[in-house]
Amino acid sequence: MIITEYVEGVRDNVRKARLSDRKIILIPTMGALHDGHLSMARLAKEGEEDVYIVMSIFVNPLQFGAGEDFAAYPRDLHRDAEMARREDVDLLFVPSAEEMYSPDSQTTVQVARLSQGLCGASRPGHFAGVATVVAKLLNIVQPDEAFFGQKDYQQFAVLRRMAEDLKLPVKLRLAPIVREPSGLALSSRNAYLSWEEKKDAAQIYAALLAAAERIREGERDAQAVAEFLRRFIETHAHGRVEYAEVRQKNDLQPVEAITKPVVLLVAVFVGRTRLIDNLIVEV
Ligand code: PAJ
Repeated sequence: MIITEYVEGVRDNVRKARLSDRKIILIPTMGALHDGHLSMARLAKEGEEDVYIVMSIFVNPLQFGAGEDFAAYPRDLHRDAEMARREDVDLLFVPSAEEMYSPDSQTTVQVARLSQGLCGASRPGHFAGVATVVAKLLNIVQPDEAFFGQKDYQQFAVLRRMAEDLKLPVKLRLAPIVREPSGLALSSRNAYLSWEEKKDAAQIYAALLAAAERIREGERDAQAVAEFLRRFIETHAHGRVEYAEVRQKNDLQPVEAITKPVVLLVAVFVGRTRLIDNLIVEV
């Protein structure tokens, strides 16, 4: 595995890989790697002969708001590099902030409507930060495919819209959510949770499953399902629910009557840690 901090280092290595006809894959991350991240490397290799996997690790300052955890975000390049190497990642791109953002930089990417609501409501500017850094990474690597996790479902919707709107020549792929045995979705931010909080946090997935069950039993009122979800989390998880919503699966539009596939989405504060999760329900 090659590790580089430089855009030119990425370009040189990707150029060589392309000359030997390998399919170029990009997996963008902010590090503190876990099985959710690594599962995408495995998925990329499934049924493929010759893939060249580029993983980026960059804690992107532009997507953190004031008062968020940019400074505290877990960073351990040594451990991450070892985990990436074991998954046969070919190239690890670990740029500095200066390499990604020149002091003169003036350009950002905004995906207007999809960035509002849900996580966008409490994190203004967050998705512009995500879209901007992912657009840059896609331009640096120019992969055939880029992988993102369903864990951040709104993020994927925003990036899919961006790729479509800007006619980016890349296929975006969505990877299933990897969970702990307790049901808790893996997240770098789980490192902030105490043992007690982890037990509470596991109730988030229990709530999503229970709400999905209500839909399967015939409940069609999206508002009622959302209320159920919120109350379940408040009573079982001792969490403060930031949002609990039912949206259309395809475009994240609000739903009144559930007639098509939906996605249940939640953001919950367990103690001081903000966790998100979601579940797709086909009807
Ligand atoms: P990060 O939170 O490090 O996540 C990197 C990728 O891993 C994202 O696509 C995320 O959805 C996916 N992921 C995280 N937890 C997962 C889980 N439990 N199961 C499956 N996939 C999971 O998301 C970001 O970084 C950043 O916003 C980024 C896209 C890198 C842009 O800075």
